[in-house]
Amino acid sequence: MKKIKIFSPATVANVACGFDILGFALNSPGDEISIETNVHHKIVLYNETSYELPSAPEDNATAVALQSMLDFLKTSQGFTVTFLKKIMPGSGVGSSAASAAAGVFGANELLGRPFTRKELVRFAMQGERVASGSAHADNVAPALMGGFTLVRSYNPLDIIPIPSPEIYATVVHPQIEVRTSDSRKILRQEVAIKKAIEQWGNVAGLVAGLFSNDYDLIGRSLHDVIVEPVRALLIPEFYTVKQAVLDAGALGCSISGSGPSIFALSKTLSIAEQVAQTMQNGFNNIGIDNNVFVSLINKEGCRVME
Ligand code: HSE
Repeated sequence: MKKIKIFSPATVANVACGFDILGFALNSPGDEISIETNVHHKIVLYNETSYELPSAPEDNATAVALQSMLDFLKTSQGFTVTFLKKIMPGSGVGSSAASAAAGVFGANELLGRPFTRKELVRFAMQGERVASGSAHADNVAPALMGGFTLVRSYNPLDIIPIPSPEIYATVVHPQIEVRTSDSRKILRQEVAIKKAIEQWGNVAGLVAGLFSNDYDLIGRSLHDVIVEPVRALLIPEFYTVKQAVLDAGALGCSISGSGPSIFALSKTLSIAEQVAQTMQNGFNNIGIDNNVFVSLINKEGCRVME
């Protein structure tokens, strides 16, 4: 039997203007799983955390992602996966994505790396399909590849790594649960051309700012005029907290993935820490428990711990 332990980072999807196409990875928190080959020709799951996870392989994001990879390889090799999750499901920082990415990354290592990290994205996305009803790649791509990633196209799948300057993320998780499937259902299916023009400008500006280390351009581009106005309704006092965060000096602030977490990007650690305090005060003031964390961008993605 071969066994390894994998760390897989939390991720911030959408990054304001890039719904379903932009994401970045955090150094912490992250999920841990251990994965080993077995002789049973099937996927066996153990949950060693206090979080409830789907125990049937066909409903579990990690097992579905892993099975899609094994089917592609036409192998009946079995794997036993033990979850040591650290990212709370439903928090908006890619909990299911981190576990799905860890599963395919770990199995790929044990099988002698038949796939590159980028090639693994396609399989990890299948986990997102069962977890949220949509096979989006904006969490699994940065979880696997690290850094900022762009999904240039879903069909055919085309993932582009985006370099970035040193930049600090602050994320607050107010303790309310927002299910990704629910927060996708409330989105409008049509976009007015005026809004689309604003959004295209911001996506292009953000990517250009990341490439050219232009913090002001990054800040000017961190606006979402399409999805945030709808989802903000699910997060109490979202706009109050956001304004306070911008006043504290953040480059920009928006909803992390489908929420309820909120993220901000800052140029320095001291601003990022000030932003963390501001976020915490904002939710404390309205009596909502919250966790806050500050992290540099994780450049590596999933890694073998032991
Ligand atoms: N792009 C996805 C969404 C990310 O916003 O629904 C979910 O984490």
